[in-house]
Amino acid sequence: MNKPKILKKIIPEQRILRHINEFNNSDKRHPGTMNTADPGKYMHAYDDLISEVLKTKVTAVSGNYYKHDIPYMPHTDYKSHLGNCVNAVIPLSYTKNQPRFIIFDQMWKYESVTWCMHYDVKVFGRYCGVNTGVKGCPHEYDVEYLTNKEIDDNLYNDHLSHLKKEDLFGMSGTVTYFEPRDIILFNNQNIHCTSSINGVKLGLSLRFKYG
Ligand SMILES: [Fe+2]
Repeated sequence: MNKPKILKKIIPEQRILRHINEFNNSDKRHPGTMNTADPGKYMHAYDDLISEVLKTKVTAVSGNYYKHDIPYMPHTDYKSHLGNCVNAVIPLSYTKNQPRFIIFDQMWKYESVTWCMHYDVKVFGRYCGVNTGVKGCPHEYDVEYLTNKEIDDNLYNDHLSHLKKEDLFGMSGTVTYFEPRDIILFNNQNIHCTSSINGVKLGLSLRFKYG
């Protein structure tokens, strides 16, 4: 898939509550900083729906619940041994201001990484999720579709001001909203990150391979 797709109000409220319940009753990985948990019995709950939307068969191969109150840095999720190139972000709940989720136009076709930008890689590594943290910024890497311009002022000021503007040089993208009952679908070789955040959010992320 090329462009992100938002499936509006596609998940019934009851299912959202069941997801939240499953997360609350599951063993947590990384407790304290970034609570994650396995998707459990819902791992394949969206295979048919997403295959229908994309008009091609997809199967979930990885995923997790995540609950956090710190922003995720720009990263990708693709792992060649899984072929997990389509991401579904399933927002479940949030407190305070509605979080946003930024999907950049720029692509990284290699194994998934998290750009730790001006932060120290070792210190920030624990916030970088399952990914390998790397030094520096996407524009310093072999990233495709860099704009060769400063990031747009509105995109930066409204959603990404917790990062340094110069670290986002060459980036452009789409703002999506963390709206429970929606599904956000995108190619996970597109670099993506959360917005600045002032509350706690809980979501489910599932990753699909073609076939
Ligand atoms: Fe991701």
